[in-house]
Amino acid sequence: MKALEGVKVLDFTHVQSGPTCTQLLAWFGADVIKVERPGVGDATRKQLVDVPGADSLYFTMLNHNKRSIELNSKNETGKAVLTRMIEECDIMVENFAPGALDRMGFSWERIQEINPKMILASIKGFGPGKYEDCKVYENVAQCAGGSASTTGFRDGPPMVTGAQIGDSGTGLHLCLGIVTALYQREKSGRGQKVSAAMQDGVLNLTRVKLRDQQRLAAGPLNEYSQFGEGVPFGEATPRAGNDSGGGQPGRILKCKGWETDPDAYTYFITQAAVWKNVCDVIGKPEWKEAPGYATPPERLDKLNEIFEAAEEWTKTKTKFEVMDICNPLNIPVGPILSTKELMEDEGLRATGTIVDVEHPVRGTYVTVGCPIKLSDSPVDVERSPLLGEHTIEVLRDVLGYDGDALAEVIASGAVGEPNKAAAE
Ligand code: COA
Repeated sequence: MKALEGVKVLDFTHVQSGPTCTQLLAWFGADVIKVERPGVGDATRKQLVDVPGADSLYFTMLNHNKRSIELNSKNETGKAVLTRMIEECDIMVENFAPGALDRMGFSWERIQEINPKMILASIKGFGPGKYEDCKVYENVAQCAGGSASTTGFRDGPPMVTGAQIGDSGTGLHLCLGIVTALYQREKSGRGQKVSAAMQDGVLNLTRVKLRDQQRLAAGPLNEYSQFGEGVPFGEATPRAGNDSGGGQPGRILKCKGWETDPDAYTYFITQAAVWKNVCDVIGKPEWKEAPGYATPPERLDKLNEIFEAAEEWTKTKTKFEVMDICNPLNIPVGPILSTKELMEDEGLRATGTIVDVEHPVRGTYVTVGCPIKLSDSPVDVERSPLLGEHTIEVLRDVLGYDGDALAEVIASGAVGEPNKAAAE
């Protein structure tokens, strides 16, 4: 049995943010029915194609364990089918541009009329306010949510991160809102609207930088490298390069092989509690008790010197050797793992976080499995659906269309050409 078994999801999402959310719901056992435009589908099916004729990895990696139905929601019969779906489903998730669902004729008020128990979950770029009508993509959200202004080096421009905190991050936020609303519905008997704005999601993940913004009023941020370097602070939280956010000095340092391997680096934290171990490891035992080095405040203006010494040592070791040596000494370090190394990581494969998936058109591909493990609800990652693969099945089994009614839907053109043959 899966945690969300019996829960039906009308998945009206596309691209990345919404599909991330519904993929999680599918992994937790919900029946996720993805509604796609006939003959077109989610735009990502055809984006960044690597195998001609096959759904792209962009699509396959975000749409596992779902069913796909082709349905034109602007066609009158299509609207009737969608209305039936709203009657049958528990949750409807969408991340269309602002106003698109209303323009289709499915406002929140209308959806409540059709099914008062429905949980409607929406992702938009911005919440209510002056930008509410904007279309928003990942990097826009990272920039508008405070991540870009606090990422990068002080003397460089703002920077976006590789982790898709705007899209996938907001999908995660939305998913939590949905299961919370589902829990409340158990008691109230009513559905509700769940909204997650990408700007808000990014800002939530950038929370500690707003902590620092307020601390600036009390004086400079001592733990930032720029403090030790004597560089004055401005009005806003600055970019802090690879400084660690928790107050313990940390940097990314070169390891053996860095000249040719762009990922031969380690993160290295000079944790105060293990300062003596750090000194021993990096070959500077004299710093343990030396005036100017012995306590964290004394060291703040010497961090460049200290990390240069640490790097002289890390350059003699591979990033994995650094880990092996430092871990038993409680010195926090972390290898910079490349995407290739992660894909091949035996530990991640053993836990199902990295999995191989078979696909009938593209063959075997690798994906990131469910990162959240439930002991009573294990996840089996199943390939993403082909466009409209389950149209007839859903019309028949979920919505109860049969005989003439089914023929009528197909003849109306609401569900796409290939279904005609499939229905016969
Ligand atoms: N049948 C008929 N029409 C359909 C349909 C279906 N099954 N599915 C979608 N459409 C229509 C929509 O109704 C809309 O029509 P309209 O413009 O006449 O109202 C149209 O397709 C395009 O939808 P839209 O969401 O505007 O797509 P877009 O490609 O122009 O914009 C985004 C893409 C991502 C920028 C936009 O959807 C958005 O801002 N979403 C919210 C924020 C978000 O999630 N961003 C990150 C995505 S990873």
